[in-house]
Amino acid sequence: MASLSTLTNPISETCFFLPKSCDLGFSRSKIAPFARSNIFKNSNVSSEGQCSSTFDVPLLSCSEVTERMRTSRESHKAKQLYLAMYSSVSGGITIDPAAMVIPMDDHMVHRGHGVFDTAAIVNGYLYELDQHLDRFVGSATMAKIQIPFDRESIRQILIRTVSVSECKNGSLRYWVSAGPGDFQLSPSGCHRAALYAIVIKDQSPPDHSGIRVVTSSIPIKPPQFAVMKSVNYLPNVLSKMEAEENDAYAAIWLDSDGLVAEGPNMNVAFVTKEKELLMPCFDKILGGCTAKRVAVLAANLVKEGKLRGIRVENVSVEDGKRADEMMLIGSGVHVRSVVQWDEEVIGNGREGPVTQALLNLLLEDMKSGPPTVRVHVPY
Ligand SMILES: Cc1ncc(COP(=O)(O)O)c(C=O)c1O
Repeated sequence: MASLSTLTNPISETCFFLPKSCDLGFSRSKIAPFARSNIFKNSNVSSEGQCSSTFDVPLLSCSEVTERMRTSRESHKAKQLYLAMYSSVSGGITIDPAAMVIPMDDHMVHRGHGVFDTAAIVNGYLYELDQHLDRFVGSATMAKIQIPFDRESIRQILIRTVSVSECKNGSLRYWVSAGPGDFQLSPSGCHRAALYAIVIKDQSPPDHSGIRVVTSSIPIKPPQFAVMKSVNYLPNVLSKMEAEENDAYAAIWLDSDGLVAEGPNMNVAFVTKEKELLMPCFDKILGGCTAKRVAVLAANLVKEGKLRGIRVENVSVEDGKRADEMMLIGSGVHVRSVVQWDEEVIGNGREGPVTQALLNLLLEDMKSGPPTVRVHVPY
């Protein structure tokens, strides 16, 4: 352990006690080309006289850090490509992934004080940008973050970032945080809220096949936090991991009354035996832009006689499990059939016809829906 006196030393006198086996993302041989004089050789002898391992930690210049960030990125094959990033801290857009960074002392990084949202890029249009932006602004208000620009300026920055990226099909993700300042709990030292945005090209094709879900044992967030899209996604991550550990695609949350709530990054819906589309109320979960749009599009199926009606109300687990069809809905998952929930087979265990019809309506809407859901990107 480093003693307190060691930790208060200036960096040049401070010892770093990292084991040799520690994976820092680069090999020891890659350290060699950098100035020898800038390499600290450290060893730690404890008060008991035991000698721990040593590790060479180089002191890097800004350009060396950037170069290493680039090498680190290039060394692993990513499923996603980052095409452009905007940062209000730098005040511009970069297309160099090595420069796509945010400050360590941003309140979002060390305290989770930030909110985010997304929008799909489909054939050069942003799908449901305005609906997602409304939720983004609402989340920021609930997180008591004063957004650094007015809504229209944010919208223009986002469109410009996609335009610079030249991405025609992918996704846009954006965050507003209390901003950089210090490492205190209070955001009072953060001088200005920050806006960040990134354009991502996903290399893997979307999969719309039927999937299994389990009930999550990870507690759902209390309603105050579940209704805003904050960066505090640890419960969501653990819930997804629990699903994967059980060979399932997602774990479904129940609310404090044991009613069906949502998945870790999607909403759920059912087709009842009476052929009604049934969605849980949005008062204790995230108001999904996709689920709300699907509810609107489902009116077409009511007109065609494929559905009897659409209901947004409380759903019990029993009603959910004995439904004819179950589906996950979200901007990432689109509309996906659930064929098994825990041990219960849903319907006949195959992808449901209404689910498939809703997926087709959504995909069609993404490609040729009205201007209210499709914002053209001038490239
Ligand atoms: C917890 C949660 N619920 C639901 C959704 C679905 O929302 P949307 O359709 O707007 O993507 C998301 C999306 O990320 C989510 O994180």
